[in-house]
Amino acid sequence: MSGRVELDSWQKLRQSVLRVEQQHLKTMFDNDTQRFDKFSRQIAGVLFDFSKQRVDDQTFSELMQLADECDVAGWREKMFSGQKINITENRAVLHTALRNRANTPVYVDGVNVTEQVNAELEKLKAFSQRVRSGEWVGYTGKAVKNVVAIGVGGSNLGPQMVTDALAAYADDTLNVHYVSNVDGVQIASVLKGLDAETTLFVVSSKTFTTSETMTNAKTAVEWFLESANDKSAIAKHFVAVSTNLDKTRAFGISDENVFTMWDWVGGRFSLWSAIGLPIALYLGFDVFVEVLEGAFEVDEHFKSASNQDNIPLLMALLSVWNTSFLGYQAQAILPYDQALHMLPAYLQQGEMESNGKHVTFAGEQVDYTTVPIIWGMTGINGQHAFYQCLHQGNVIVPADFIASIEPQQQVGKHHEILLSNFFAQTEAMMAGVNAEQVRTDLAAKGKSESEIDDLIPHKIHKGNRPTSSFILDKIDAKAVGRLIALYEHKIFCQGIILNVCSFDQWGVELGKGLASNIEAELTQEGITHPHDSSTAGLMAYYKQKRKN
Ligand code: F6P
Repeated sequence: MSGRVELDSWQKLRQSVLRVEQQHLKTMFDNDTQRFDKFSRQIAGVLFDFSKQRVDDQTFSELMQLADECDVAGWREKMFSGQKINITENRAVLHTALRNRANTPVYVDGVNVTEQVNAELEKLKAFSQRVRSGEWVGYTGKAVKNVVAIGVGGSNLGPQMVTDALAAYADDTLNVHYVSNVDGVQIASVLKGLDAETTLFVVSSKTFTTSETMTNAKTAVEWFLESANDKSAIAKHFVAVSTNLDKTRAFGISDENVFTMWDWVGGRFSLWSAIGLPIALYLGFDVFVEVLEGAFEVDEHFKSASNQDNIPLLMALLSVWNTSFLGYQAQAILPYDQALHMLPAYLQQGEMESNGKHVTFAGEQVDYTTVPIIWGMTGINGQHAFYQCLHQGNVIVPADFIASIEPQQQVGKHHEILLSNFFAQTEAMMAGVNAEQVRTDLAAKGKSESEIDDLIPHKIHKGNRPTSSFILDKIDAKAVGRLIALYEHKIFCQGIILNVCSFDQWGVELGKGLASNIEAELTQEGITHPHDSSTAGLMAYYKQKRKN
């Protein structure tokens, strides 16, 4: 047993499901003209509207009670103060210390990590400035023009998402390219056209053992040496971000070219650490600091706002309500901003790797659905792909809609058209279209009664589909920092409420081990491991065809 279903609030919320299921969101709005004011919140640069979620006053107060009974505030304090709440790995969870702009001391095992973080930030600053200014030169004395960032999962998604989101502010000092997939097609296409003399590789891996990253890094070294033909030149073209100095040394990267992170930084929360180096290189160190500052603002909000005004907590409670009570098993992320096109992928890792768990902190089976399937894409493209299902499918998918007031680039009336869609879609998902509206519409178009009767069932939109809306001032560095931190803290609160350890990823570790065994079978003669008939058959088929 999870210990959650016995809570008074949990029991009450279960009862509330029956009441809420009888109510249509449109009726809730019709009956309460204050609903938007009641169920929306603001912090600097962000409006969060959850009035189109299926909550009423009673549910809201029961969710508040749930947060209290789960002691979210107590756990929040434990996280910020460096207690080892990642119990399965005996680690603190301190990505917040990486953006602690107040510089207050935070201790792990008696060491003030704030000092370590600041020292590393200084190193990052000095290096990124040397590279950007052209002071750092390659083996032939030329300045760096292209940065190739090699890493996967949290060592890739965060930096890539942020540099894509802020590309509109980049000058033409450097280009940045990312390689995450072990499929050789990716690195081959990135390296094509690059010049070894002006290329800097950043190999980012917390463990420096991740096979995909190591394979790509070795290929990069081989490619580089084909031109440089001198191993000593590697020092000018390869830097690493890692906790594992033994491995970076063994790889051939000298210590002064290694930026460190710490075991209390989870991979999927690591973009605030030196893992963010590509951000500083591409956009400048000051922009990287602004991203940290935006996140820090949200940390302060998360720590100090009351439960009922605490946006990350509200996001988490709504997610638990939708998933574990109303039974919605998916959650769409729909940015109406091209700059945020990678946000769905980023949050997919953030939420699913964190809370995709089946046991509680204490190792008991949970008796409710934990994490929903997170997916999505930019809203406009989604409208022409999967919104049909969001509007009329019989699987209900709650969705987060994200837009900004100011576009990064003002091009004609594009932003007004984009935002019109943003507003229209959430309204339609909430209100739907009933038979009477369809009849009136079709009659006005001159359809006969029998045609109208035939079409009505197809054109009815039941509505009552929950959405939250976020409106940011503008997608700039601070806004990106704020947005990511809001979701990070949401994921944390969600984990606490669900009573799962959000900070480990044993499921991913399993996959890493499995693939390495099979790799030996594919590449070396005479090695076989026992497999089921399907896996053995697939491998035999592959090997046979590959030989021909
Ligand atoms: O995807 C699983 C994971 O363990 C992530 O948590 C991490 O971000 C990623 O692998 C990469 O790991 P590393 O930085 O050690 O290469």
